[in-house]
Amino acid sequence: MMIFAQQNERTIGAPDKLFGVSSLAKERIAQIGKENVINSTIGVLLDEQGKLVVLESVMEAVRGLTREDYAAYAPILGLPEYLEAVKTAVFLEEPPEGCYVESCYTPGGTGAIRNAISAYTIPGDKILTSDWHWSPYRLIAQELGRTVCCYTLFDETGKFHAASFEAALSAILAVQEETLIIVNTPAHNPTGYTFTDEDWNALLTAVLKYPDKKIALLVDIAYLDFAGDGKTNRAFLKKLNGLPEHILPLIAFSASKGYTMYGMRCGAILCMTPSSAIAEEFKDVMRVESRASWSNGNRAAMAVIAKILADKGLLAKVQAERQHWLEVLCPRGDAFMEEARHVGLKTCPYDAGFFITIPCDDPEGVGKRLQDFNIFAIPLGPGIRISVASNTVAECRVMPSKIKTAIAQSR
Ligand SMILES: Cc1ncc(COP(=O)(O)O)c(C=O)c1O
Repeated sequence: MMIFAQQNERTIGAPDKLFGVSSLAKERIAQIGKENVINSTIGVLLDEQGKLVVLESVMEAVRGLTREDYAAYAPILGLPEYLEAVKTAVFLEEPPEGCYVESCYTPGGTGAIRNAISAYTIPGDKILTSDWHWSPYRLIAQELGRTVCCYTLFDETGKFHAASFEAALSAILAVQEETLIIVNTPAHNPTGYTFTDEDWNALLTAVLKYPDKKIALLVDIAYLDFAGDGKTNRAFLKKLNGLPEHILPLIAFSASKGYTMYGMRCGAILCMTPSSAIAEEFKDVMRVESRASWSNGNRAAMAVIAKILADKGLLAKVQAERQHWLEVLCPRGDAFMEEARHVGLKTCPYDAGFFITIPCDDPEGVGKRLQDFNIFAIPLGPGIRISVASNTVAECRVMPSKIKTAIAQSR
């Protein structure tokens, strides 16, 4: 029961799991020293000394900002040069042809998810994502009076569970005229899974079965620029071009990871549509959504992204720096997976990115036992999430056998 605030059917005041485990990790570090604790709770990229990675080339652009870049309002939709820049950031050298692409500033990918749900579904609607998912999807939907329904992401062979997706979509569309689907790829949070060509084909085949329904398909690409080869990972974008009008592909772009601008709150929502009317309407509806939530965006952050994408030399520097850090990140994931195979620890399929997830029956119990080994990780859904982005290769090698033991002990 709330005292003065209104519950409005929400869960409010429950302890924040992530924050809880992360403060326990900090306490243990204070007691026994950083070198004796593995803190795998942090969802950002850290260097080998445990410091936040900040791209120097991005800082170069930040330092070049003018007083007006910081102080003036930006248009509600975003600075025009930013709206173009994010298209380049998403599509690089291969902008889609034959469809309309529009964009709107949002504070991070989070704002894009919020605007997408609010603009393209109605209160009471069910929206669809996978059972393993980033938990704010649920929270944002709930805050807007919508509910998240889940399909099972992996079948028993560890492949995309197309049948489960199809069944869940069919159940929703049996009672609704519209829905929104969230797909988080490449390098899905929390598993690190990347949708394959086949997965996309299966997903789109299912979506195309409902010519009388309106389906918004939101692709959350938060980890796109830290997921490996940029061109390969953007191949799916071509499949979103040429879909019929009643399917609206939306992209949630985030500068948090790819440009290490987590705190500057910079992102965008983009639409791709064969209809000029739907594209115009996108801009109109996004103006209202933004106006009614955060109003104008962070002009300084937009100016930074606009500057980088307009300057080939600077963009090349950003890409080279990212490549360097990708070469730091990948061996961590590889080390964890290699060791997991070695000790026989079953993980969710991992391709790339910041996180690896280990399914288990008693995530809370396993999490607590891991703390006895001075390892701190987040219990998430029916599993434990490891953040390889914030651990060294040596730490990644240590964790699998300890997790295996912790699972065995919690049975
Ligand atoms: C899957 C996923 N989507 C979106 C986001 C949005 O991040 P931001 O709002 O900082 O861009 C995150 C951040 O952790 C994420 O993990």
